[in-house]
Amino acid sequence: MSTEVPTEEGTLDAPVAELPIEGAPVRDGIGEEDNPIPLWFNVGFYGLMAWGVVYIIYFMGTGWTQAGRFAVEAAAAEERYAAIRAEMPTENPYRGDAAALAEGKELWATICVACHLPDGQGLVGPSVIDPYWKYGDSDEALFETVNDGRPLGMPPWGPTLGAEKIWKVLAYMETLPRTDEPGIGSPEYEAAQKAAAGAP
Ligand code: HEC
Repeated sequence: MSTEVPTEEGTLDAPVAELPIEGAPVRDGIGEEDNPIPLWFNVGFYGLMAWGVVYIIYFMGTGWTQAGRFAVEAAAAEERYAAIRAEMPTENPYRGDAAALAEGKELWATICVACHLPDGQGLVGPSVIDPYWKYGDSDEALFETVNDGRPLGMPPWGPTLGAEKIWKVLAYMETLPRTDEPGIGSPEYEAAQKAAAGAP
């Protein structure tokens, strides 16, 4: 967009329309100008007004709400997953199964030892052989821990292992010799570490 603008040296091809308002005061060579409103602005401006009217009528007339949509979708999902959930074991099906324990031992040795050590006393991850369970030691809680992961560095293993292997590695984990000493990750152990480091 360009416009012929009259100046003292003749007309100037200005990139933007700048039309001085007749009779308006000019100070230090700067005067008020009257520029035509660009098309894109008007289209957006009136378009939004039209959209607003349509939206208000639609919103108030049809009873449409986000909460309503959410409830409908949540109900559909609930229906779909209720069946799946009903089939999920809530108890470890491999407890005491020798073949499963052997497979679980292998999984433990290839994956879990990196952070929990072979005997389960913990290194990067917490001890899994002490009496303290941050996330609970029910079968369901343990499954959730390993399947979904936990925020402070426990990766989710569901996608790589699947439910069956998770139950197997947990069945093996249970057979590790346990201790009564609060280990890595327990509040007692962390407090002792802090005291030993001389922290107040
Ligand atoms: C990359 C390191 C890492 C690996 C590998 C790992 N873990 Fe963990 N694990 C952690 C960390 C870190 C936590 C603590 C998470 C937290 O406190 O939020 C944890 C927590 C846990 C807990 C919960 C302990 C409690 O007190 O509630 C269990 C059970 C567990 N891991 C089992 C396993 C098993 C079984 C495997 C192998 C499939 C495994 N972990 C592999 C790092 C790891």
